[in-house]
Amino acid sequence: MSANRIASPRRVSVAPMMDWTDRHCRSLHRFISRHTWLYTEMVTTGALLHGDVPRHLAFTPGEAPVALQLGGSEPADLARSAKLGEQWGYDEINLNCGCPSERVQRGAFGACLMNEPQLVADCVKAMRDAVSVPVTVKHRIGVDAVEDYAFVRDFVGTIADAGCTVFIVHARNAILKGLSPKENREIPPLKYDYAYRLKRDFPKLEIIINGGIKTLDEVAEHLEHVDGVMLGREAYHNPYVLADVDARFYGSSEAALTRDEVEARLVDYCASEIARGTYLGAITRHALGLYRGEAGARGWRRVLSDNRKLAKGDLAIFAEARAHLRGPMEAPAELSSEIFE
Ligand SMILES: Cc1cc2nc3c(=O)[nH]c(=O)nc-3n(C[C@H](O)[C@H](O)[C@H](O)COP(=O)(O)O)c2cc1C
Repeated sequence: MSANRIASPRRVSVAPMMDWTDRHCRSLHRFISRHTWLYTEMVTTGALLHGDVPRHLAFTPGEAPVALQLGGSEPADLARSAKLGEQWGYDEINLNCGCPSERVQRGAFGACLMNEPQLVADCVKAMRDAVSVPVTVKHRIGVDAVEDYAFVRDFVGTIADAGCTVFIVHARNAILKGLSPKENREIPPLKYDYAYRLKRDFPKLEIIINGGIKTLDEVAEHLEHVDGVMLGREAYHNPYVLADVDARFYGSSEAALTRDEVEARLVDYCASEIARGTYLGAITRHALGLYRGEAGARGWRRVLSDNRKLAKGDLAIFAEARAHLRGPMEAPAELSSEIFE
C-alpha cells in the first residue's frame, strides 16, 4: 500500500441501490462479510421529513456498519435528515450527487448538483454542523458533454473546503437528458483514471472508486490507486463475491461462512421476519444469486421467486429450492441465459 493510502473502513463497500439495498439485502450481505461497508437505498429529504421515518430508517442492528444515503439539495432539510439518520444509528450520512434520473432532476438533486458545487458545499456544511458521524458525497466525474478532468477536480475541491473528506466517485459521466438511469450506468465510458488523479491531487482525502467492478482481484488493483472500492450490481447479483473480502482486505482471520451456512443464517432471519409480518418474498428476492455459478442455481432461483409458494410464508421453500442444488452440472447454456436487470 503506497504511503498516501488511507486505512479506510470503506475499503470495500456495497453501493446504494434503490429498490435493492433495503435492510433485507443488507442483512444478507452482512452474513457474508462482517466488514464490508453497506449503504442504504437513497432516501429523499421529502420522504423523510414528511413521511414515515421508521419505515425509511429502521434497520436490524446486525447490519452495522451502515451508511444512510440522502437525496436532497436544501441545506436545512438535509441537516434535519442527517440528524435523524444519526439518531437512528447510521455510521455515515452520504449525499447523492450522482443519480441522473429525471424524477430526481425535477427535485433538483442527484447528478445535476454537480453543476452547483457551492450549493453542495453549503449542504455538506449544514449536514456536518448537525451530526458527528462522517458526511460523504457520491458523485460522477462529469455531467453531459463535460469531459474535462478540471470539472470534477474543482467540484471535489469546493466540497472538501466545506470539510468533506470522503468522496465516492462513480467514474463515468451522468447524461442528464436522453439516457435512462440504467443506460447511464452502462453507456458513458468508465474513466478510472479520473478517480486515481483525484487521489493524487488530494492525497489527504479518502477517495472511493465505483463503476463496473466485478472481482476481488479488480478491487485489489484499484486499491493500489485509491482508498476504497464500491461494488454495486455485482454484489447484488452475486452476493457471495463478498465472501473473501474480510480476509483479503480487512485482515480478518475468521473463515467466511460457506454458502450453505449463509443460507442457514438467512432461513433464521426469514423466520424472525415472518414473525414480524414480513412477506417472505421481500427477503428471498435478494438471495436469488446466492448460488450463482453453482450447479442447480437456476432451480434455486426459480423456486425462490415463485410468488404463489412464497405467499404461504413456509420456510420449507428453502428445502425445495436447495433440492435443485448439487445436482449434475447444468449445461453452460443455463448460466449464459442469466440475464439480469
Ligand atoms: C438498481 C439500481 C439502483 C441504484 N440506486 C442508486 C441510488 O439510490 N443512489 C446512488 O447513489 N446510486 C444508485 N445506483 C448506482 C450505484 O450506486 C452504482 O453507482 C452503479 O450501479 C455503478 O456501480 P456498479 O457498476 O458496480 O453497479 C443504483 C444502481 C442500480 C443498479
